[in-house]
Amino acid sequence: MKPGNALMRHYLQFKDFRAEEYAYLFERAAIIKRRFKNYERYQPLADRSLAMIFEKASTRTRVSFEAGMYQMGGSVVHLTTGDSQLGRAEPIEDSARVISRMVDLVMIRTFEQTKIERFAAHSRVPVINGLTNEYHPCQILADLFTFIENRGMNQRGIVDADCLKGRVVAWVGDGNNMANTWLQAAEILGFTVHVSTPSGYEVDAQVAGIQNTNCYKVFKNPLDACRGADLVTTDVWTSMGFEAENDKRREAFADWCVDAEMMGVAKPDALFMHCLPAHRGEEVTAEVIDGPQSVVWDEAENRMHVQKALMEYLLLGRIG
Ligand code: CP
Ligand code: NVA
Repeated sequence: MKPGNALMRHYLQFKDFRAEEYAYLFERAAIIKRRFKNYERYQPLADRSLAMIFEKASTRTRVSFEAGMYQMGGSVVHLTTGDSQLGRAEPIEDSARVISRMVDLVMIRTFEQTKIERFAAHSRVPVINGLTNEYHPCQILADLFTFIENRGMNQRGIVDADCLKGRVVAWVGDGNNMANTWLQAAEILGFTVHVSTPSGYEVDAQVAGIQNTNCYKVFKNPLDACRGADLVTTDVWTSMGFEAENDKRREAFADWCVDAEMMGVAKPDALFMHCLPAHRGEEVTAEVIDGPQSVVWDEAENRMHVQKALMEYLLLGRIG
């Protein structure tokens, strides 16, 4: 495909897709996951290849995209800043022109969102955001699917994406890429995010890219944000790329640790999620992340299933 082809879709932010497309993706993810669990071969992406570009470290994103692509019959090319010309200042536009002539799909983890947007503008193939400073849409896709699996799926595995409507998600911690993406999801899928961040680390509706600020409420005290929540979630105090602020952040975030007291004021069946990697004793206690309400391991595994559905959708459109 040529850059600018109207049929080509990128996934650069959560809001790139509509609610009904998410309902479809969650259904496909459930089918794809079931096949995987039953050792059923499903290889609709035979002969397709995915380039994965990492300008920041990763465990889950790399393994989930790489394993997922191979399982679907395709192959992957793994590039990092250090081992490619990206690290030697080749313009991102030139990299996009070249890489996208040789593969069918590109996933990028990088710093500024503008970087991935510039890449996408010059790409002949769909581009997926594998995390930027501003957003992490694949993670929220997995988190929402994990919520649906626990609260909106019947015994026969029928997915009800409407189960997200009217729910309360408590965000405790940094107003970062994860928080921004939660806000986009809330606006599109009709739930509310209770946000509590230390002062100086608030979410900004403009950076989050939302139109309607009714999709979130701000709480000074993290305990108040958790009250009545269906899901409590957090993330590291210091995201990748902000390591120089480590000491300052440790001080500022000391009271933003999800503990048993916070889980205790949420709904009795509230879930706990964390995109991982986690720092026990900082943003969450070991008791909570390793406790009965935590679904973090399913959440991590679901990255692979939802991303398989996403890659299938971007390359093949709707199935059936
Ligand atoms: N949650 C997540 O994106 O993990 P990685 O940084 O390990 O890819
Ligand atoms: N907010 C974190 C998420 C890591 C998966 C970061 O950007 O480093």
